[in-house]
Amino acid sequence: THTHTYTNIYIHTHTNGALRRGDWYKTKEILDKGVDWILNEIKVSGLRGRGGAGFPTGMKWGFMNKPSDGRPKYLVVNADEGEPGTCKDREIMRNDPHKLIEGCLVAGRAMGARAAYIYIRGEFYNESSNLQVAINEAYAAGLIGRNACGSGYDFAVFVMRGAGAYICGEETALIESIEGKRKTSSEARVFGCPTTVANVETVAVAPTICRRGGMWFLSFGRERNSGTKLFNISGHINNPCTVEEEMSIPLKELIERHAGGVRGGWDNLLCVIPGGSSTPLIPHHVCDTVLMDFDALIQAQTGLGTAALIVMDKSTDVIRAIARLMEFYKHESCGQCTPCREGVDWMNKMMWRFVKGDAQSAEIDMIWETSKQIEGHTICALGDGAAWPVQGLIRHFRPLMENRIADFKQKQQAHA
Ligand SMILES: Cc1cc2nc3c(=O)[nH]c(=O)nc-3n(C[C@H](O)[C@H](O)[C@H](O)COP(=O)(O)O)c2cc1C
Ligand code: SF4
Repeated sequence: THTHTYTNIYIHTHTNGALRRGDWYKTKEILDKGVDWILNEIKVSGLRGRGGAGFPTGMKWGFMNKPSDGRPKYLVVNADEGEPGTCKDREIMRNDPHKLIEGCLVAGRAMGARAAYIYIRGEFYNESSNLQVAINEAYAAGLIGRNACGSGYDFAVFVMRGAGAYICGEETALIESIEGKRKTSSEARVFGCPTTVANVETVAVAPTICRRGGMWFLSFGRERNSGTKLFNISGHINNPCTVEEEMSIPLKELIERHAGGVRGGWDNLLCVIPGGSSTPLIPHHVCDTVLMDFDALIQAQTGLGTAALIVMDKSTDVIRAIARLMEFYKHESCGQCTPCREGVDWMNKMMWRFVKGDAQSAEIDMIWETSKQIEGHTICALGDGAAWPVQGLIRHFRPLMENRIADFKQKQQAHA
């Protein structure tokens, strides 16, 4: 027998408690409205996955809404957050764990899932503890578990800690990691059962959409780019921060309103990586006007990705910055496919020579070509993520690369 005391959740995160923030408010009513109603609100909202790829969430969750073949279905929540520059999901788990747990229940219900597995990166030790405490509270209050919220629906939530590899955030690798296998990439079914993998932010926003209505969420941002979004802003700004803002906010406004502006002023801006390390950088003149949403950033030959902005001012050696990213991708490649395993290694080696200028101009075309041979030719998107930063650099900073090569040659000749 469970009592549904919605008022006694121990408040352990900061000063404002989950309930005071509106979590777990009328959750039973949402569940009672049923699968089709929930899925429809998510579809109407226009929500697109917040894990990087931006696939329409209502459609994706709807794929699971088929008659069961007897096997249980699972929701896997991707809390790996490995993309350099990105720390938005961490913020939710630190300060608002109940939002995620309630989201698991609502999203899980929409899929007919029996349980949610939250796969969290091992480095997020405090966040996983927070989450576990909140899960225990939710069980104790009858919000999850048997007859969750008194809805007649049974739902379990588990936390699993990863061992810290970027590839584990890729959804098929993530599932293998949950099953205790070594992490590579292939097909997505945890324990051989129908599974949907969804990002923390995507899941955590679902109850709010259901409470306020899909139309409410749709009213933010531009068409096809709706809603509110967490943005991480790091690098050469005065006040690095994570903020929730309206989608389609101009990049410049986002930085100036929330991050205290670029160090040394807007004119001192060199470029921005707009969506986590995998997205190609955009130079100052593009940053002047570009909007922060899926379509505007695609149009600017980059992407919204995880909406983690890495801001670089004019003191940056941008060739070196991209070389450092290549070192990361080389280290994190799981080695399963040749273009990624070999190609990223080549790009890394070449990039460090470009840093010195110890290269031929023709090699700029060669590394471009290598990146094109990797892009779209690998099992998972890590290969693309490694190719794109190099392409962004060449697209916008080719003269800088050529000058460095010329300087290096000149110095060599002077010494000869
Ligand atoms: C190499 C690689 C790393 C990824 N890391 C993450 C991650 O840390 N968190 C995440 O939510 N998605 C990550 N993704 C994307 C997931 O594969 C998947 O698309 C996402 O979790 C789906 O959730 P969504 O539909 O809610 O966006 C990664 C993808 C790749 C290729
Ligand atoms: S693209 Fe890279 S990380 Fe992805 S499966 Fe292939 S080798 Fe592994």
